[in-house]
Amino acid sequence: MTSAEVVSNLPPLQPDEAKHGALVLQAVRDAIATHQGWLAFDDYLRLVLYAPGLGYYSAGSAKIGSGGDFVTAPELSGLFGRCVARQCAQVLQHTGGDVLELGAGTGALAASVLTTLHELGLLPDHYYILEVSADLRQRQQQRLALLPAAQRTRVQWLDALPAAPIHGVILANEVADALPFKRFLIASDAVLERGVSVSAQGVLVDADRPADAPLRAQVAQITESLAPPWPSSSAAPSGSPALWPWPSGYQSELCPMLQPWIAALGAALGRGAALLIDYGLSRREYYHPQRSSGTLRCHFRQHAHERPLLYPGLQDISAWVDFTRAAEAALHATLQVAGYCTQAAFLLATGIEADLAASNTTLQRARLASEARQLLLPEAMGETFKVMALTRGFDTALRGFAYQDLRSSL
Ligand SMILES: C[S@@+](CC[C@H](N)C(=O)[O-])C[C@H]1O[C@@H](n2cnc3c(N)ncnc32)[C@H](O)[C@@H]1O
Repeated sequence: MTSAEVVSNLPPLQPDEAKHGALVLQAVRDAIATHQGWLAFDDYLRLVLYAPGLGYYSAGSAKIGSGGDFVTAPELSGLFGRCVARQCAQVLQHTGGDVLELGAGTGALAASVLTTLHELGLLPDHYYILEVSADLRQRQQQRLALLPAAQRTRVQWLDALPAAPIHGVILANEVADALPFKRFLIASDAVLERGVSVSAQGVLVDADRPADAPLRAQVAQITESLAPPWPSSSAAPSGSPALWPWPSGYQSELCPMLQPWIAALGAALGRGAALLIDYGLSRREYYHPQRSSGTLRCHFRQHAHERPLLYPGLQDISAWVDFTRAAEAALHATLQVAGYCTQAAFLLATGIEADLAASNTTLQRARLASEARQLLLPEAMGETFKVMALTRGFDTALRGFAYQDLRSSL
């Protein structure tokens, strides 16, 4: 689909959105000019997602929920938070201490985790939230102010990861996929980096240039770790054995920030577990030759598409998580990879069926069953989302991974 065709399928911009979009577009053009006409894609994302007062996550749009651009699992159903809470409870029973949630969105997960932990008599000492978006922090404060005092008073917002490690649980649902990432392409004899440039008409356009040494090294690391036997469908581009197994024209993404982000989480965790929940795959699946256009997705008012240069500052842009990269980063940070499974397996192992059975009325049962289908079905969120547990000083088997162990696929 061309950009014009994608736009024709999207809802029209409201006047205030168009005005804000024009400001962001000008900021991108200025940044491109400052960078000699070419902006790396991760720098583009830093600007259009996070620049104070301008970026998608920093400028007050509705974003998450049915009135926004996309719906996340905790927004879709309280069932998700109840299951996550039961996993937190198992850890807190051993470690005591705190929960730290990164990127808490509207506060939906925090609300259901706190409510369930209260029911279980296992409230953490603190429920810390680290949120980079000022307006989402405000939405979280409004939502969590409605909780009973015993839960509400546990919540504290942080401006940075805690200086002293916490004991307990770190939660990050759909945060790793929101970290700025790079785009790369395979040409017949080179690795290219896809960035952003401006056309003579002032329109933002994809612009590719030879990858610099650090990006080439990261791509080489991927190909080296995808050791033979290659999938049978792969075809080495002639004359470029070093780029094997991808065909010429293949494009994908990689997230250099994932390793330092996990290292920082590792430094923030004393005894306990970090749960990363996100769209994602093992490296072998992520970089399969047939996944030749990568995993980048944009969301604008519940429409998904693949045109990240449209509507800068007005749409979400994300890429799936390479969970093998996450696991390597965790080992580097002296964390253990204690579990990796699909979201469906995790929710089943943490008691989603018992929650469904406990519903009081036929109407409630029907509503919860429909929400559970969205969370569990493979073609919805059940298999595209994975859960990874990273632990330190915690050897008990985590209940969320009792039904499935996909660690050998990493
Ligand atoms: C896709 S939203 C998910 C929100 C929420 N976790 C949910 O599931 O509804 C991504 C969230 O991550 C936050 N975020 C992005 N980068 C972050 C970082 N480095 N540290 C903490 N939060 C971050 C965003 O502001 C936003 O709240």
